Amino acid sequence: GDRSTYRYAVITMSDKGVRGEREDTSGAALQELLNRQGYRFCHYSMVADDIEAIIIAVKRAIDEDGADLVVTTGGTGVSPSDVTPEAMDSLFDKEVPGIAEAMRATSLAITPQAVLSRGRAGIRGGSLIINLPGSRKAALENISVVLPALHHALDKIK
Ligand code: MTE
Repeated sequence: GDRSTYRYAVITMSDKGVRGEREDTSGAALQELLNRQGYRFCHYSMVADDIEAIIIAVKRAIDEDGADLVVTTGGTGVSPSDVTPEAMDSLFDKEVPGIAEAMRATSLAITPQAVLSRGRAGIRGGSLIINLPGSRKAALENISVVLPALHHALDKIK
C-alpha cells in the first residue's frame, strides 16, 4: 500500500531519558524523518534500559497502537546497561540480518565505532522492528541505510 497506510512507532531506550536527565533528540529526529517520508506516526515511548520494559513497550506499539514498523533507538552498545538486542529474543518471529548488516557496513565507513552497535532487525507478526543506535547522528545515519528498502519491506511482510 501507500506509505501513509503504514504506521510507525519510535521507542527510545534511555535510563537518563527516563530520569529526565536527557532530552530525546534522537526520537524527535526519527519522527521528523519518517513523517517526511510519508509514514504515519502511531506510538512514541521512552523506556529504561530494561529487557522487560522494552518487551512491553514494543508489544504495546504493535498490539495496541497498530505499528507496522517499530524503530528503537539506544541500548545497542557494549555497556553493561545496553540490553536492547537481548530484548529482541522474546519479540522476533524471524530475524532480518541483512538490515543490521547493511547498517553496520555503511556505518563502518563513517566511524570505526560502528562495530560496537549490536542492533538487530526482525519481524514480529506483520510488523518490522529495527534497532538503531542511541545518538541522534547515529540513529539518522543508520535508518538512512534502510529507507530505500523500507516501503517494499513493509509491503512484503504483510
Ligand atoms: N553508527 C553510525 N552510523 N554513526 C555513529 O556515530 N556510533 C557508534 C555505533 N554506531 C555511530 C554508529 C557508537 S559510538 C556506539 S557506542 C554504537 O553505535 C552503539 O550505540 P548505542 O549504545 O547508543 O545504541
